[in-house]
Amino acid sequence: MAALTMSGRTRAGLETGKRWTLDDIHWDRFDGSKLDPGIVKIVKAASLVEYNGADYATYLCNVFSDDPDFQAAARIWAEEEVQHGQALGRWAHMADPSFDFARAFKRFTEGFRLPLDVTTSVRGSRTGELVARCVVEVGTSSNYSALGAATEEPVLKQICRYVAADEFRHYKLFYTQMTRYLEIERISKLRRLAVALGRLNESEDDELAYAYYAANGREDEPYDRKRWARAYAARTFSYFRPSDVQRSVAMTFRVVGLSPRSRLARWTTRGANWLLRSRQKRFAETGL
Ligand SMILES: [Fe+2]
Ligand SMILES: [Fe+2]
Repeated sequence: MAALTMSGRTRAGLETGKRWTLDDIHWDRFDGSKLDPGIVKIVKAASLVEYNGADYATYLCNVFSDDPDFQAAARIWAEEEVQHGQALGRWAHMADPSFDFARAFKRFTEGFRLPLDVTTSVRGSRTGELVARCVVEVGTSSNYSALGAATEEPVLKQICRYVAADEFRHYKLFYTQMTRYLEIERISKLRRLAVALGRLNESEDDELAYAYYAANGREDEPYDRKRWARAYAARTFSYFRPSDVQRSVAMTFRVVGLSPRSRLARWTTRGANWLLRSRQKRFAETGL
């Protein structure tokens, strides 16, 4: 692919940078009487996935090998994700001093590795890669919005507010880049939809499930993918509100080129809410 020329507008879309640091968190306001054990479990798992962001930057820099501006933005993006991992990991340790972040992270990365030796996207195209990145940011922005609303613990509330704002900005970054590559690669709406659905499906798959296991499973307990995927989904979805679902559907529709205000979007929101409630009930019995 020929190297791309960046327009001023595109450059503006790439502007990113850390907006906050760990010192901005009011750690001294931590209130151990306001913990929800289910939220602590999710935060532990999320800290591992987020902290793994540096590997994603390597992967993205391989895929976008002739696009130095995007590579620079991807590296800053990864720094922000790593910082999310640090903030969440530190909080998880305050909430549960037995949580050994370094040990859990080692366990996670030993069992889950990204394909770092590739030069093309596992999604089939650069546009597809950016569609998948957008879908991930839809998930993370909704997740932290939901957790921030659900938790009564003031420090986690602040972390979730900061992290969710970053995730919405990340969505915007990848969306801007996706529209840019779409002009070159011109992949169809159907193909984008297939990538988005594929990535949505993976959300219940290995990475998050394995992180949930690595953070919360007993040392001697073998990994049961289906069981931990269901347990993770049950916990996470239990905090989602209808407004999180509606916004997620609208953001995903925009990525695949469908109107977020269409009748189809309303039906999809209704269907997604139904699916969420049924999964909450069906998976809750895992007890993990
Ligand atoms: Fe993040
Ligand atoms: Fe993000």
